[in-house]
Amino acid sequence: MRIIGERRISRVLISTALGPGGSGIFPYTLLPTYRRLILAVRETGTTVIAKSATRYRRQGNFRPVNPLTWRYIKRISGQGMLNAYGLTNHGVEVCTKEIKQSCSSGLQVIPNYYPEFAKGTEMAIRETLESIKIYQDILGPEFWALELNFSCPNAKEAIAENVNQGIACVRRVRRDYPELYLIAKNSVVHPYEFAQELERLGVKAIHGVNTIPYAMVFPGDRFPPSPLADAGGGGVSGGPACLAARKYNAELRKKVNLFLIMGCGVSTPEDVQSYLDLGADAVSLCTLALRQPKEAARVLLALNG
Ligand SMILES: Cc1cc2nc3c(=O)[nH]c(=O)nc-3n(C[C@H](O)[C@H](O)[C@H](O)COP(=O)(O)O)c2cc1C
Repeated sequence: MRIIGERRISRVLISTALGPGGSGIFPYTLLPTYRRLILAVRETGTTVIAKSATRYRRQGNFRPVNPLTWRYIKRISGQGMLNAYGLTNHGVEVCTKEIKQSCSSGLQVIPNYYPEFAKGTEMAIRETLESIKIYQDILGPEFWALELNFSCPNAKEAIAENVNQGIACVRRVRRDYPELYLIAKNSVVHPYEFAQELERLGVKAIHGVNTIPYAMVFPGDRFPPSPLADAGGGGVSGGPACLAARKYNAELRKKVNLFLIMGCGVSTPEDVQSYLDLGADAVSLCTLALRQPKEAARVLLALNG
């Protein structure tokens, strides 16, 4: 039986917390609880969305080899994180080879690609199409779905302004690869009309939402400025982002009919249930996997097992 589309997306999925290859991020892999989480991911057939790749190697703010840049990933209270990682990755070829290895070891990994619109719309689209060819060549039949990240708050590109670029990109990808199951990862700063237009263009799923810009969670009139102000403020995830994410996703559900992956701020099985009650078709988690991997494994075993 050929299983396609959302039937291959597990009810709870892990979003980007297992790195660009989808099988774990060093040095988290040194933690026994994180390794046990990877085991639970494999045992439960949990869908893993890889961390974003770009066409070519990209040096973001966080660089694993430079301890001075580690401050760009912070733990904050309420089981949250603030990060301005900035899409550091080795480029799509290297990331895809790692994904291939993960798939061969039994993990269900969907690649996540970041179109670099700061290079201009046409260049970003050309690079996206080249990258899809690379995914196809390296992954073969294991490449059935792709998440396009339109919502990174840590890149120089302004998210709210990439709507037209995102639409142009999806239109071309749909034309050249009509069979590909496309997931768009959106932000709370995107108007709902963006998701609606993506649905009209044939995107199969929306993943709402990415980390939330610092100033939206901690407004300047009541909170001190972001400790990562030099990198645009960073994105908030985990507990402190939950309220804003839920509000956005509840409204998004009313605006689109397609498969909706809701996430941001999930810390317990009850949080997963409350997204399902809002009408989520699947629920993602990331910060929980990095901060409390034991709890993340518990969620997977309870709901995907
Ligand atoms: C350290 C860190 C790195 C992230 N990197 C990416 C990324 O490369 N691509 C992406 O689409 N989302 C990325 N995210 C966002 C997560 O996948 C997730 O959408 C977000 O953190 C909200 O969910 P959460 O509250 O469960 O963490 C990252 C989040 C964190 C905390």
